[in-house]
Amino acid sequence: MAQTARIYRGTPRNLALLAARLRAGALVAVPTETVYGLAGDATSRAACLRIFAAKGRPANDPLIVHIAGLRDLARVAVPNEAALRLARRFWPGPLTMVLPKTGAVPDEATANLPSVAVRMPSHPLFRRLIRLAGVPLAAPSANPFGYVSPTTAAHVRKGLGGRIRHILDGGPSSVGLESTIVDLRDPARPAILRPGAITRDEVARALGRPVAKSRAPGGARLVVAPGQMARHYSPRTPVVLHEKLSAKAAARGRADAWLFVSRPAGKQPPNVSWLDPRGNLQGAARRLFAALRELDEAGYRRIHAELPMGAGLAEALRDRLSRAASR
Ligand code: TXA
Ligand code: MG
Repeated sequence: MAQTARIYRGTPRNLALLAARLRAGALVAVPTETVYGLAGDATSRAACLRIFAAKGRPANDPLIVHIAGLRDLARVAVPNEAALRLARRFWPGPLTMVLPKTGAVPDEATANLPSVAVRMPSHPLFRRLIRLAGVPLAAPSANPFGYVSPTTAAHVRKGLGGRIRHILDGGPSSVGLESTIVDLRDPARPAILRPGAITRDEVARALGRPVAKSRAPGGARLVVAPGQMARHYSPRTPVVLHEKLSAKAAARGRADAWLFVSRPAGKQPPNVSWLDPRGNLQGAARRLFAALRELDEAGYRRIHAELPMGAGLAEALRDRLSRAASR
């Protein structure tokens, strides 16, 4: 694919130029603290359709709308007390809320749903760009549909470089996993639709009530969050999941890659890697998608991946690894 995309540094001049492009309906790939997004004017039907076309994304998979200030929430969604509480506690940051939508958001953005997913990102360049554009920005992850999400500008260019013109470089994403999605359409029955860096416990504590766990992919979740199909975030190389990996098994399977959560003791061959030297989960989250991409490109027969155990961020990591393994 011919690479026509240009990578921009976040200078004031570039930000002004990219904001003008967004206002004119063009798409700009943007850095966020979770993963890179492919942004377009959320209030423009044409821009939203361009996002679906560039990603090869099915029309029934709604977009997340990004705002820069709490004042803009009521422009796109009908907030309730629970939503305002979560906004005050976790925004700007990796939390997305599903709420009833307003007429400012076209059906093209929300796959005809009467609700909208809203997030206020914390990445300073993206926030500045939303402010300069003066419109809320719809942005799914900036990857061809179904592939591993991008956490660097180079990842975006590799996947979409032939289909988009502008990529804003804001360095590697600091969280590394897509935002936590909370369904707050009915504030009395909050539910996690996608686990992320903000955990179910944290959301429950902030709301002062229990929060339902994310439904298993493929089941009821398909109805509520249409984009959450099981086959998502998948490298081309088959991924095999393990509750525990052993260095011995890795030593026998030289044609395969072995991805541990933490660094195994001793000297390791090149087909053995790890998400974080000490198994720190924040570090593992930051590294996961880049690691899957690198192993995918290295031409191994299979990728054996170890699942982090426990609650919180480990849940989000298991979710992404399970999706990477399903086909
Ligand atoms: O961290 C993130 O959320 C990143 C960055 C770019 O902000 N964005 C992201 O977008 O992950 P995407 O398109 O890859 O995932 C959006 C998902 C959809 O697949 C769908 O499951 C859910 O959000 N969603 C969007 N609108 C919804 C709605 N109205 N009701 C339920 N789920 C919705
Ligand atoms: Mg995505």
